[in-house]
Amino acid sequence: MSAHGPAIPMIARKSGPLNGTAEVPGDKSISHRALILGALSVGETRVTGLLEGQDVLDTGRAMRAFGAEVFRDGATWVVHGVGVGGFMEPDQVIDCGNSGTGVRLIMGAMATSPIAATFTGDASLNSRPMARVTDPLALFGAQAMGRTGGRLPMTIRGAERPLPVRYETPVPSAQVKSAVLLAGLNAPGETVVLEAEATRDHSERMLVGFGAEVDVEDTPQGRLITLQGRPELHPQTIAVPRDPSSAAFPVCAAIITEGSDVLVPNIGLNPTRAGLFTTLREMGADLTYENEREEGGEPVADLRARFSPDLKGIEVPAERAASMIDEYPVLSAVAAYAEGATYMPGVKELRVKESDRIDAMAEGLRANGIEVDEGEDWWRVHGRGFGDVTGGATVASRLDHRIAMSFLVFGMAAEKGCRVDDGGPIATSFPIFEPLMTALGATVEREAT
Ligand code: S3P
Repeated sequence: MSAHGPAIPMIARKSGPLNGTAEVPGDKSISHRALILGALSVGETRVTGLLEGQDVLDTGRAMRAFGAEVFRDGATWVVHGVGVGGFMEPDQVIDCGNSGTGVRLIMGAMATSPIAATFTGDASLNSRPMARVTDPLALFGAQAMGRTGGRLPMTIRGAERPLPVRYETPVPSAQVKSAVLLAGLNAPGETVVLEAEATRDHSERMLVGFGAEVDVEDTPQGRLITLQGRPELHPQTIAVPRDPSSAAFPVCAAIITEGSDVLVPNIGLNPTRAGLFTTLREMGADLTYENEREEGGEPVADLRARFSPDLKGIEVPAERAASMIDEYPVLSAVAAYAEGATYMPGVKELRVKESDRIDAMAEGLRANGIEVDEGEDWWRVHGRGFGDVTGGATVASRLDHRIAMSFLVFGMAAEKGCRVDDGGPIATSFPIFEPLMTALGATVEREAT
């Protein structure tokens, strides 16, 4: 079964050249935050470029359950918010589908209001760890009761009299940081988060945009973020930039398919997100940034990716992991076509994503004839170079959109292509993946079941 219906087997065949312009959808991280902060401000927030993937739609539905109005007005999504501390108690279970970002941020947003809510998700989400969020939320005074091991379904009872919190995140996670900051909105005084490794900073940036007082300081111990509680958030007009994590797929496909030249315009290059592109360039990929500019305080460029026949395996610095955490699966697909090994240390977090992404990629790559070594927090893909990747296997996507898309990209350059058992999860983050890749010239299709 797929997340939202029967499995959709898909196949990618050896393709190319890929040519043209790939207009990828809006940023998933920013889309979730736009809906949640819109719901926490009083008045009308208008959002263009929102990712209409299932994960974000599930967050929109959840915001309605907490009392906000969320609807589409032509190409704009409109949120009528209820204000900080204004969430109503939902009278239904909140189903966040496949989305760790959705559930963890929403838990934070409701944890300092005197209401209870029960959260659930699909089989992937219900197997993921939630204690990393409920532990800091308990410091505010919230109570959580879930399945053994801190898994969903889980009920959170928000704090009646929330206390402000100072919290050092034990794992590099923007979701944990954001849950604490969102909880801090309805706590009096200062909520402080210290993160040893800087993770994506969209929450901090957007909170400032909505009128919260947020101070960010780089210290020898890491990044220190201080939020003043109980602000009045003012509704905003938000243009969601395009998602670098989605751009990764046409970019990587162009790099490994012969004769390709693809333009991926308007991609946010926030340094907390752009690690993959730096890594690809270090591997010798022909990837350039055109028309570099600033938009809404974020660096943006048009990416131009061309077939890159001389890829070399490299060691990806561990300190870069947070800035490309979602891109390791597709990087490992590219690494299969490089000369030599690509070593990826410091990536323990990959084991608790929508699937255990090291295990899922290692298993699928091996089935396709690629040698992979792995440890708890590292892995190494032994590239075979162009012309020596046979492929031809069927891999399990494990309810994980990025695993499905990574193997389809891999298949576009493999002699015998590659098949995934279920492409259904792709709809969570990149619903137009198949038509977009097809329009570029890729052979990727659903198979009759
Ligand atoms: C996200 C944070 C990351 C990332 C996820 C989106 C976010 O997760 O993998 O896809 O929007 O905050 P972690 O916080 O678990 O690293």
